[in-house]
Amino acid sequence: MKTLLIGGGGRESNIAWRLSQDSTVYAVMSHENPSIMHYVNRSGGSCITGNINDGKLIASYCLENKIDLAFINSDNPLEAGVVDELLSCGIPTVGPTRSGAEIEWNKSFALELMREILPEYTPRFWIAKDSESLKYAFDEIISMNMVIVVKPKGLTGGKGVKVMGKHLMNYDETKQYAAELLEKSAEVILVEKIEGIEFTIMALTDGKNVVYPPATYDYPYRFDNDKGPGTGGMGTFTDKTLPLPFMTDKDYEQCMYVIERVVYELNRIGRHFNGVLNAGFFLTRDGIKFMEFNSRLGDPEGINVLSVLDTSFVETLDMIRRNDLKQLKFKDQASVVKYLVTPEYAIKSGDPYTFEMDVSAIKSDGIHVFFASAVGTENENVYKTVGTSRVVALTALADTVPEAASQIDVSLKRNVSGPLQYRTDIGTYDNIEMLKRVVADW
Ligand code: GLY
Repeated sequence: MKTLLIGGGGRESNIAWRLSQDSTVYAVMSHENPSIMHYVNRSGGSCITGNINDGKLIASYCLENKIDLAFINSDNPLEAGVVDELLSCGIPTVGPTRSGAEIEWNKSFALELMREILPEYTPRFWIAKDSESLKYAFDEIISMNMVIVVKPKGLTGGKGVKVMGKHLMNYDETKQYAAELLEKSAEVILVEKIEGIEFTIMALTDGKNVVYPPATYDYPYRFDNDKGPGTGGMGTFTDKTLPLPFMTDKDYEQCMYVIERVVYELNRIGRHFNGVLNAGFFLTRDGIKFMEFNSRLGDPEGINVLSVLDTSFVETLDMIRRNDLKQLKFKDQASVVKYLVTPEYAIKSGDPYTFEMDVSAIKSDGIHVFFASAVGTENENVYKTVGTSRVVALTALADTVPEAASQIDVSLKRNVSGPLQYRTDIGTYDNIEMLKRVVADW
């Protein structure tokens, strides 16, 4: 079978690895990603660089190479309707259409849908479309003394969301930021801030049947102890069990109920949705609350999920394509992903860096390496960063989360040199105990 992926991040490198286990892989990449090129070449496929939002380019590359199955899993291409274009050319494709993916690219749509079908899981929110409705919303919010989060309506790559008390210190600052967003976009969303622990579940679905992998815990902030600006995600973990260490089975079951209900509703209202419904939740003292949906595997969360997926990923996608998704197997292991980034990442743009990384030595430590915004150089083990995004993801599986995290740390210190930075608290014993204590103290 010939499969196709698009993109260039660590998640796409991981997808290329999983696809290459059972198919010949083709890729349209945003840049010459060393991991994607490695897995494509090893599988006997081929790749090009190009605009991954250009549905016509991707469709013609698929037709030229007689692709049997395309997997479209990035936010901007999903919003751009790449799946619609491929399906209209008769290319078997997994991923939601533009209208299905609206659950991600239009946060107002997602919140309104949730308020309609699952109000008990939905935080209070206001959608302001002009300065008058913004003023009205703030009058209500201030009268309730409510702490809020300001969200742009559309895709922001993990940046743009600002939280009162963390990024915005009072109502004046919050109002000003909301007004700034409103100048740039048709709507701004003000959402009640939920006190709790955030996590995600990346449910796989053919539109009807849903399979649930282990929940993922993400570290979205740039520095240790959740300091600094928001990022696309500095690292993630999954446990051996479906719930995370601070959750109960009942918490997880409530999330399953929400996801199942939303998948059903999307299809009922005629929005073609298959692939991954990536649901973000808060665990609170009053149970589960909804945060947001993504219509794809998260990056890095998806790396955890595909790394512990024991069923062939190609077979999984093929079952989804045939609308016949059956139960999948997951490894009885915990997983940790850590991203290495440039010193300026999420702070300001900077010049490209070179760094040395002994990929073979890291692999022989049992750690997977998934390059993201990096390219190879003429010197073996020397790489160069490209763009302003995350550089390379390292992944380990082990019996426990702290063991997997420490395996990555040990190998990193031995085998990477140069300016790259990473968080040191991801998946540590202390960090997990702190999360458990938060719940125990409720
Ligand atoms: N890690 C956040 C995202 O994939 O959007």
